[in-house]
Amino acid sequence: MTDGENLSTIEALFDENRHFPPSEEFKAQANISSSEIYDQGKDMVNYWRTQASRITWKKPFAKVFDWSNAPYAKWYVDGKLNITESALDIHAKATPDKIAYYFEGEHGDTRVITYLDLYKEVCKLANTLSDLGVKKGDRVAIYMGMIPEFPVALLACARLGAPHSVVFGGFSSDALKDRINDASAKVLITCDESWRNGGRVALKELADVAVLESPSIEHVIVVQRTGASVNMIEGRDHFYHDLVTAASDERDAEEMDSEDPLFILYTSGTTARPKGIVHSTGGYAVGAATTHSMVFDIKDGDVYWCTADVGWVTGHSYVVYGPLINGVTSVLYEGVPQFPDKDRYWEIIEKYKVTQLYTAPTSIRTFMKWGTEYPKKHDLTSLKVIGTVGEPINPEAWMWYYEFIGNSKCPVVDTWWQTETGHIMISPLPGVTTTKPGSATVALPGINVDVVDEDGNSVPNGSGGYLVITHPWPGMARTIFKDPDRFKDVYWSKFSKPEENKWVYFAGDGAKKDLEGYIWLLGRVDDVMNISGHRISTLEVESALVDHHAVAEAAVVGRNDPTTGQAIAAFVTLKGNEKGDDALILELRNHVASKIGKIARPASIVFTDELPKTRSGKIMRRLLRDISEQRQLGDVTTLANADVVHEIAERAKASQDKVSSE
Ligand code: PRX
Repeated sequence: MTDGENLSTIEALFDENRHFPPSEEFKAQANISSSEIYDQGKDMVNYWRTQASRITWKKPFAKVFDWSNAPYAKWYVDGKLNITESALDIHAKATPDKIAYYFEGEHGDTRVITYLDLYKEVCKLANTLSDLGVKKGDRVAIYMGMIPEFPVALLACARLGAPHSVVFGGFSSDALKDRINDASAKVLITCDESWRNGGRVALKELADVAVLESPSIEHVIVVQRTGASVNMIEGRDHFYHDLVTAASDERDAEEMDSEDPLFILYTSGTTARPKGIVHSTGGYAVGAATTHSMVFDIKDGDVYWCTADVGWVTGHSYVVYGPLINGVTSVLYEGVPQFPDKDRYWEIIEKYKVTQLYTAPTSIRTFMKWGTEYPKKHDLTSLKVIGTVGEPINPEAWMWYYEFIGNSKCPVVDTWWQTETGHIMISPLPGVTTTKPGSATVALPGINVDVVDEDGNSVPNGSGGYLVITHPWPGMARTIFKDPDRFKDVYWSKFSKPEENKWVYFAGDGAKKDLEGYIWLLGRVDDVMNISGHRISTLEVESALVDHHAVAEAAVVGRNDPTTGQAIAAFVTLKGNEKGDDALILELRNHVASKIGKIARPASIVFTDELPKTRSGKIMRRLLRDISEQRQLGDVTTLANADVVHEIAERAKASQDKVSSE
């Protein structure tokens, strides 16, 4: 953390006054339409005891949670279960023909997988893994494209009680190697290749390089997706279908303690070394299922689609575990939104009559840039609830999503959470909560969050500070793999008072509470700028920029400035046929001034065709800060679009030279 370190208050300057209460029509059909649920949530123990009935327990738990060894929590103490029984067995018995996944390949190939099919496939792979020596507690690494065998792989590990460690298929060999080694994974499950934007990603080739330096790997299982010829090492490498076809389609589920780890998922922190976030079984299962059902108002007959890659936590909780436990039919799409054309998502929604869509603000802003003609080509009236996750959504994008995708009738659920939280924490309940564009609204029932100042004191409504979680919750990360001290240090040291037995989780995000107590996420605290002693969130300036009709997307960073402490550097992508010239720079600066105040006017604005983004779609602000401060650029290999960086650097330099000569 840099400038966020001294954060005392954030000046919440951006005003957004639109309110969207759930319509009477929506309320009438919603699973939850009364605010009583929030009152029920105040009684944590009873609330979370009740929600636990969503899960099939092999042995009931003795106690809802145990916080005596804080910050290392236990939930559903002494309960025994296997999460796959709730996700598969129950449905395979009760509704065997119900569709679990409609799979849509990038090139148009499709598969329909029922709950019974999924159950059998998972048992087969579990038996296969077991034959290869995988036992309860062993780690299995997974590095795949978005095909049905991806969820199958996670579930097969869970069936055996072998924690999976999924590595996103867009990561490099090096990243894969580091994660395999940190977890000492015994088996790796991968694909020959995956399809991506019409091209191929040579996963097995990348995996081969990683495995060369991963001594713990004994076997590699390869799903043949494209049929490309790949190098197979006798004895170590096996084609998935060769092994799985012959395996039995029945496999008893391993009995797991509620606290046994279900998976490890690596996430970046403030140091170069990724953290292996460890999630438990029972609490995670209850948290994922409860939030999925409530936030998306899930019903029998729905066709739900979360566009996230299973490689990220959103995919774990809301493509695999949550939807399957709730027995819903999901769409699983392999590819990108622009293949073969920019209406692919809308075509899929029309084709499968999707009822819930869950996607990312960065995608929404891209869709805005492409224009409304693409969604307008398709019938999207099947949609009932539309959600976003991953970063703050600016009011402009929220409104676009509401109007053009949700047809001004679907509640927008802006969901805040993290890899570490395991499931959604702050989000509207679509049949209850009045939404406001750009706010994730309030904490879900049974979740306690607050915004605090530098000393950990709750700030009054209308003020900003740090977002914290003040009570343990079921899906919370239990530790960092092999590093419990780091877990305590990173998340629990800033605001906790162990001497008073007060434990506060620090999420790393800045937030403000508006006058009604709604939470507005302001981005990571290291993205907060200090301009002449005024603290301004990069997000607020971005929001103001994107609010201008010519702007499709904007990223803002604070660069060092000898006079003002920091100066605001903006990087702006314009919509289709807009022209970036000096007149527009002036107009944008004035626009920001009118939206927030003169203090927030960017000192420099650089027009760029694209912003540098990670493969998960997050804007790399750190890199933009380096560019703005004309530093040597660090590692750009994790970028989805590394080429744009040098071009932006050139333009940034030219623009700053110009500013300083003015
Ligand atoms: O800064 C917040 C942002 O994403 C971070 C968590 O990232 P990750 O662990 O990769 O998980 C992403 C998917 C759950 C948070 O610390 N973030 C996530 N959702 C939102 C958000 N920021 C604002 N609004 C959101 N809805």
